[in-house]
Amino acid sequence: ESSTTREEDVLPKDFVATLPAREGWSEPLVQYHNYWFRPWHLERILLVKQAFVPRADDIILATQPKCGTTWLKALAFTITNRSRYGFSDHPLLTHHPQHLVPFIQIRGAGTSHTDIESLESPRLFATHTPMSLLPPDMRSLGCRVVYLCRDPKDTLVSRLHFENKAFPGTNLSMDGAFSMFCEGFSPYGPFWDHCLEYWRESVARPDSVLFLKYEEIKSDPAQVVKKLAKFLGVPLTEEEVSFGVAREVVRLCSFETLTSLQVNQVGSVRHGDSGSIGSSAFYRKGEVGDWANHMSQEMGDKLDRIVQLKLEGSGLKF
Ligand code: A3P
Repeated sequence: ESSTTREEDVLPKDFVATLPAREGWSEPLVQYHNYWFRPWHLERILLVKQAFVPRADDIILATQPKCGTTWLKALAFTITNRSRYGFSDHPLLTHHPQHLVPFIQIRGAGTSHTDIESLESPRLFATHTPMSLLPPDMRSLGCRVVYLCRDPKDTLVSRLHFENKAFPGTNLSMDGAFSMFCEGFSPYGPFWDHCLEYWRESVARPDSVLFLKYEEIKSDPAQVVKKLAKFLGVPLTEEEVSFGVAREVVRLCSFETLTSLQVNQVGSVRHGDSGSIGSSAFYRKGEVGDWANHMSQEMGDKLDRIVQLKLEGSGLKF
């Protein structure tokens, strides 16, 4: 008689509890289908996979944490709702971007999971879930997915600061975080596998999956706004282009504008069942290349080599 618990026989919570946990980050992570998760995140992912009913016009913003989720939420929300809201009384001026676009897998971040069912179409969601663990119907229905990734060195540095700031009592060192990350042991990691799954899908189905990089938005944000609008089925009109709407969107969603607003400085963002995270923890520097201020050139080179090897032959490069 086998003593292993079969996933389909028990509640997600009970199943997750049977998985081996590994310590190192602010809380122990469990491994499932190659990826590492906070236990309650995985529980939510399994619930979503079972119960979430996708609609063909759902839009999913997919990221690994710290790759620019907050920025992408602000941009996509502003683009898709631009006929409803003017720039002077825009919801972003009074709401945290994390609240405007709910995570499908985190109840309580934004609207609750049950409210998700009653949202008007087209619905805009975010997720950190790896492509292979999304509800399979999303693929067959052709839901549009925007994936945003970021240079792994900057992602790691951002992760380290976030862990130490957002989870009181955590005091991770750069060296410790570096070696875990290089092993592929990080929340929603291995970093490279997460990127690769979405990358391959974007190559195979470019009309359904748009692959973006943080650095690309940084270097030409207005161009990315236009690209996003087109991909999401709401291209900028000639009139909008001549009125500089792309630039307005960029300005509203910029690091400078968002961090100047009180809603992003004080208070907190509900983070599912596990409590809250300070609103300001989602903003730090918002720069490309800050890794060099926190790790040595040798460490940077080592991580680059690891990632390069993992991505070899895929066409994806950082
Ligand atoms: P840094 O820690 O490097 O500053 P996520 O939203 O996925 O948690 O990612 C957080 C990272 O995105 C942080 O990076 C944060 O500063 C940056 N960020 C947040 N809002 C941004 C914005 N409007 N423009 C550019 N970067 C932003």
